[in-house]
Amino acid sequence: MPIDLKVTPEYLDLLNKGVAREIQVSVQYVLQHSKMEKLLRKMIPENILLDKTTYEQVGKVLKDFAIEEMKHLGKIMERIYILGGEATTKPSHIEVGNSLREFGELGLKAETEALQLYRKVIEMAGKLGDWETREIFEHIYQDEEKHFLKFQDYSEIEGEPEFPAAEEEEFQAIYTDDWIALLNRAVAGELSAIIQYTNQHEKENAELNRRKKTALEVVSDKTKPHVFSDLLKSIFMQEMDHLEKIAERIYEIKKEATADVDPLPNVGAEVDDWIKNDRDAEDYAINLYRQIINKALEINDVRTRLIFEQIINQEEEHFWRFDDFTP
Ligand SMILES: [Fe+2]
Ligand SMILES: [Fe+2]
Ligand SMILES: [Fe+2]
Ligand SMILES: [Fe+2]
Repeated sequence: MPIDLKVTPEYLDLLNKGVAREIQVSVQYVLQHSKMEKLLRKMIPENILLDKTTYEQVGKVLKDFAIEEMKHLGKIMERIYILGGEATTKPSHIEVGNSLREFGELGLKAETEALQLYRKVIEMAGKLGDWETREIFEHIYQDEEKHFLKFQDYSEIEGEPEFPAAEEEEFQAIYTDDWIALLNRAVAGELSAIIQYTNQHEKENAELNRRKKTALEVVSDKTKPHVFSDLLKSIFMQEMDHLEKIAERIYEIKKEATADVDPLPNVGAEVDDWIKNDRDAEDYAINLYRQIINKALEINDVRTRLIFEQIINQEEEHFWRFDDFTP
């Protein structure tokens, strides 16, 4: 039974705007983190303002922020499920940028919007007497303020080198638009899986919270969603790692990674639907990555092939882990 609060659709929409923002920034910061190596190589020795340490430091901060945003995302999703709503899987618009300064400006924009939205949420939650939500957002608000201040510093960075596009060498001819588009389908698929698994994991967390009173009854049918949800958590961390590796490779060859989510995440109502949908998601990834590996073999893109061979091993493992749960 949902909590006895006057939870309106408008209120849930407002919370879901938070979800959309949190998905956006986690992905945005992860992609920026993946792009850091590329920016670092643009560095020139004469540049005393921006030495290697600056890039490494910012890269580390972005990764930390991305993890914090993922935690916010989880908290808000879980709360929505506790309140009897359905958490969205659609991110707000993701923009990566091309320099530290741009990362700073985009981050500043995202964090400002988050602070505005969360002030509204805190106010609404207070009016409703939804103290738990208010407290969750008060905590998140403090993190966003910290992010805001950091990005303010980065947005003032000056003296970054800008290089004209270098002439292509012969070996780069294999990196055609079609090839990059195919690699970006892998990015989109990883994003989809990450969002789907996180959403399901938080749905189960909410359910667990609601059932605390009866936690002593251990019935196998009841524990299945929980065991499965634990598995999801470890798997979506691996998908994050895939996302990072694939994006890094795309940036390494000086192309752009896109931030589409495709196919659309398919959450499902209960554990048996999740299992089916997640098995499908892994099946999709395995097929796509086989295609990528074959193409990489054909055009002799050895580095990309090795990366995907590692990843496909894990996807297959994910598939079989999910398959074990199939009724
Ligand atoms: Fe956040
Ligand atoms: Fe933030
Ligand atoms: Fe993956
Ligand atoms: Fe996977």
